[in-house]
Amino acid sequence: MADRYLSFTGTAPGRFLTRRLGLPQPTALHRWSAEHPSFTGELLHLGAGKSPLDGPDGLAAVLARTGLAVRARSERPVAVVLDATGVTDIDTLAEVHAALHPVVRSVARSGRVIVLGAPLDTADHHQAAVQQALEGFVRSLGKEIGRGITVTLLRLTDANAAESTLRFLLSPKSAYVSGQVIGIGGAEVTAPADWALPLAGRTALVTGAARGIGEAVAATLARDGARVVCLDVPGAAVELESVAGRLGGTALALDITAPDAGARILAALPSDGLDVLVHNAGITRDRRLVNMAAERWSPVLDVNLASVLRTTDALLSAGGLRTGGRIVATASIAGLAGNAGQTNYAASKAGVAGLVRALAPTAAAEHGITVNAVAPGFIETKMTAAVPLFIREAGRRMNSLGQGGLPVDVAETTAWLAHPASGGVNGQVVRVCGQSLLGA
Ligand SMILES: NC(=O)c1ccc[n+]([C@@H]2O[C@H](COP(=O)([O-])OP(=O)(O)OC[C@H]3O[C@@H](n4cnc5c(N)ncnc54)[C@H](O)[C@@H]3O)[C@@H](O)[C@H]2O)c1
Repeated sequence: MADRYLSFTGTAPGRFLTRRLGLPQPTALHRWSAEHPSFTGELLHLGAGKSPLDGPDGLAAVLARTGLAVRARSERPVAVVLDATGVTDIDTLAEVHAALHPVVRSVARSGRVIVLGAPLDTADHHQAAVQQALEGFVRSLGKEIGRGITVTLLRLTDANAAESTLRFLLSPKSAYVSGQVIGIGGAEVTAPADWALPLAGRTALVTGAARGIGEAVAATLARDGARVVCLDVPGAAVELESVAGRLGGTALALDITAPDAGARILAALPSDGLDVLVHNAGITRDRRLVNMAAERWSPVLDVNLASVLRTTDALLSAGGLRTGGRIVATASIAGLAGNAGQTNYAASKAGVAGLVRALAPTAAAEHGITVNAVAPGFIETKMTAAVPLFIREAGRRMNSLGQGGLPVDVAETTAWLAHPASGGVNGQVVRVCGQSLLGA
């Protein structure tokens, strides 16, 4: 279902009328395309406090590799990176204000503001207070900056471990990720031979790949060089074959809730196993709890959570995921914020977030695998096209970017988490929601 309001506000009369009426004026976002794969222009690199990331092989070197022209001053930056890792007290926090206050207005449309913070030091409550202060700052700036600009806080200790993340955030691939706080551990990372084909030679399995977000995830991972195994229910076999065929992958028609699903996936994989497992299949059966029979509760919990637990366990215990592997599960902002009529769905999606947080440290220690989740907000799919008009319009507009996301936005975020150089990103639940007001 096309967003006609967004198209209308993109025209001169539409802009005039909506401005006069005080209506939202969303900016058409700049997304990745083969013709325009990256931003062009200047990256303004600012600092506050004394940064531990300075040094010959530090942040400056990583930013220089993004392809943007790094500057200490810029009239019209496409991106601003403010290094606030050295903010330890109220005075250095004031440097964040001093650095960004004069430049926010000049950031280009659909641009980026990225604040780099340090992990909270629980032994130093002054440092913890001002580092936590950055979250309120970033989330507020994301809500007020407008013009399709996204604002993100990254907590890191090692710029090299954050390179895949910085490249993602400093590209059109992250158009719908805003208001997020992402933590990056100091993992040993190896840069891919080719940043344009990071998944070359790797195999990825995507559940629910016959349509919607799953189809976009499979296509994006294939674009990044992966051999894709596309899984969906036997009832969707025709669409599934068509998606897999188009992507040069294989189709696996299988109900993920089947008790032997893990074994059947293992049997369908190449002998060297899997590198990326994307749990995307999901269903809704909405009703308020008072009207929700067990027939609406059980299937949602079974598809969205129980099967995710079962297949993850089956693949991990059989060694089906190789060292350096990636698991990306699909949560939802409904699971983080709660949503009337979705006690079943929100429970299942909150469960996904719990699984990710608990499994991430052990999967990393025992298997060298990261486990993360994407939490989509309002994404334009068949699922949301079925939502009544007024609720759909509210879902689209009630976020900082004033529009719904596209399946490709979730897919790009998944591809970043699946990236071989994203080993430092573990146990994160990253919202792809344009900074939705739900649960913000
Ligand atoms: N669309 C949104 O706005 C939104 C928001 C938040 C989260 N999500 C989540 O994103 C994921 C994809 O959503 P979508 O909008 O693309 O949905 P969709 O309904 O368009 O696609 C889901 C796919 O999963 C498949 N599937 C369902 N049950 C299955 C099973 N038992 N075994 C195998 N495959 C099965 C379906 O056949 C379908 O192809 C879901 O987990 C959903 O909960 C979507």
